[in-house]
Amino acid sequence: MKIASTHDFRRKAKAKLPRFLFEYVDGGSYDEVTLHQNVEALQKIALRQRVLCDVSDIDLSTTLFGQKMALPAILAPVGLAGMYARRGEVQAAQAAEEFGIPFTLSTVSACPLKEVASKTKRPFWFQLYMIRDRAFMKDLLQQAMEAECSALVFTTDMPVPGARYRDYHSGLAGSAGVLGDMRRIFQAIQHPQWAWDVGVCGRPHQLGNVAPVLGNQTGLEDFFAWMRNNFDPSVTWEDIDFIRSIWKGPLIIKGILDKDDAIRAADFGADGLIVSNHGGRQLDGVPASCHALPAIAEAVGSRVTILADGGVRNGLDIVRLMALGANGVLLGRSWIYALAAEGKHGVSKMLDLFAAEMKVAMTLTGVTRPEQINQSILVNNNNNI
Ligand code: FNR
Repeated sequence: MKIASTHDFRRKAKAKLPRFLFEYVDGGSYDEVTLHQNVEALQKIALRQRVLCDVSDIDLSTTLFGQKMALPAILAPVGLAGMYARRGEVQAAQAAEEFGIPFTLSTVSACPLKEVASKTKRPFWFQLYMIRDRAFMKDLLQQAMEAECSALVFTTDMPVPGARYRDYHSGLAGSAGVLGDMRRIFQAIQHPQWAWDVGVCGRPHQLGNVAPVLGNQTGLEDFFAWMRNNFDPSVTWEDIDFIRSIWKGPLIIKGILDKDDAIRAADFGADGLIVSNHGGRQLDGVPASCHALPAIAEAVGSRVTILADGGVRNGLDIVRLMALGANGVLLGRSWIYALAAEGKHGVSKMLDLFAAEMKVAMTLTGVTRPEQINQSILVNNNNNI
């Protein structure tokens, strides 16, 4: 299949992946209202076409948190991304590094932090969930410091996981009667076409950052049980002090949808925040990211760096979120589809596509630098959202 867009990567990923893995990445929580809103509301943000304004010299690069980037985009943290291609996080991190944008490694990655660090040359970002076991968290933060990770993304919108119906239907989630499905899942993972090597072969080092605390329990089921039991709903803003006592680099709070929380994040000394609803995977019915973004940017845009994600499927969407107030944009499912479809090469190809699309969007809205992208390139400014 000739790949021209994220839709093509998605189709190819769907054809290639065992069902439970495709559904895990493609799905959202409950009725998936927010998931669809993220994509559809963003697509509807109308760009204002301008002509004859000499846009021959376009530069897509930008600087965020003191880091130069080839594109105002970052690969978002995605749990178990390493299952979508062999040692998938390493492949994606290398593609991001070669392109010149940050890769974010999830706490619940399949490849451990040290493995990604040893296979890349430049620092990547690390994402942290608040885990009940603070000693484990402390160790992870210290590893991130030692690996010289260039930013810490602290995800706050997962005190408990949202229910995802598709994972129940595919057999990935739930307990009653699921064992049969789990066995099929294990078979799929071990299929030679993939030779997936996470968590099912009794090799603890292959369960990523969580492996040391899992001990002898090395199954995928054990991994999900650990996740269910260890997310910490008691966490508050004051816990940021605990993180700050160990982490000395840029701190970015992920999962902000409300102006008042954005103000608190700034008050508690965050360097940046990510307007995000976890890709529609947590509380269904919350606003699309693009709808939440303008008020947050207005409230704290002068104090912290604003990032946003949710529904970004091409380079035009990056421009749209930036026009609504983001300084940079995280890519979620789009890089997983590309990774599943074509490995590292797919992620590189996706980034080339997004850059080309972003360039076209800037050309036809009459701007030449990411810093010039603002509400003036939208039709009727705010009225269209
Ligand atoms: C995620 N996301 C996520 N976020 C995070 O902070 N830590 C994580 O481990 C994960 N894991 C994860 C798994 C899967 C399968 C998906 C699809 C998403 C959320 C992710 O970082 C990002 O916020 C969304 O994916 C953005 O929305 P789009 O681009 O996927 O629509």
